[in-house]
Amino acid sequence: MSAICGRMSELALYDHPALYDLLVPPGPCERFYCELAHEAGGPVLELACGTGRLTMPLARTGQDVTGLDASGAMLRAARAKAAAEGGSARFVQGDMRSFDLGRRFALVIVSCNSLCHLTDHEDMTAALRRVSRHLAPGGLFAFDIVNPHIRDLSHRQAVDLPLDAAERPGIVTREELVDYDPVEQVRIVQWQVHEPGRNSRTFGPMSLRAIFPRELPLLLSAAGLDLIARHGDFDGNPLTRGSLNQVCLARAACDGPRQ
Ligand SMILES: C[S@@+](CC[C@H](N)C(=O)[O-])C[C@H]1O[C@@H](n2cnc3c(N)ncnc32)[C@H](O)[C@@H]1O
Repeated sequence: MSAICGRMSELALYDHPALYDLLVPPGPCERFYCELAHEAGGPVLELACGTGRLTMPLARTGQDVTGLDASGAMLRAARAKAAAEGGSARFVQGDMRSFDLGRRFALVIVSCNSLCHLTDHEDMTAALRRVSRHLAPGGLFAFDIVNPHIRDLSHRQAVDLPLDAAERPGIVTREELVDYDPVEQVRIVQWQVHEPGRNSRTFGPMSLRAIFPRELPLLLSAAGLDLIARHGDFDGNPLTRGSLNQVCLARAACDGPRQ
């Protein structure tokens, strides 16, 4: 591919959980998923839970919550948060394509576009089948992914994130450099992070699959899941051409594969 891949960096964002938390602050997904957890009643499984940004609020709803992630560094940060607040969430290291927790859940969540780390069709289907297998009868699968817009797929953008003035005054600028492979439907992302008082660092490249709205029901159904609702944001507004996200609910299809 083009220029971005020629400047590959060794830094992986998920090896830097404190920086991840700085760059990805709490958002409206929290209220949405916590309400679902409240309605579903638990147990709740969050796949690709990262530093527990969402897992911790989910556990505060009083439900039995398990977070699973592939990254040891992200999980260490999550466990430290849980220990600091005396939280009840359990954390497990695992791969969402192949995990087997030996139990079923009323609600399985994958937030923050994390499914799109699975760029191969086989990996995506394997993960969705794992989800299907871990859903209790009538259980709900809730996830959010980007609503890819052709205009933005290879668009370079810079976002200024003001830092907590008391801790580290200043502004972190996250500059996202993007390339797009239209055959693989994969975005290649690098983040250049400019923090006050230190040299700029480049994180990535990270590959993220673009899942277009009309292919999503097909991907789910190949894994034995039915899409039952989809919104364009976390407030329940409809998915439209201007929506940034696809916020989705699915259930196991009655006749779907449960392997
Ligand atoms: C964008 S972060 C999201 C973290 C968290 N869900 C949040 O909302 O902040 C994506 C996470 O997916 C995890 N991840 C990527 N591929 C994975 C895989 N195959 N299995 C499990 N976790 C994976 C990464 O380690 C990372 O913590």
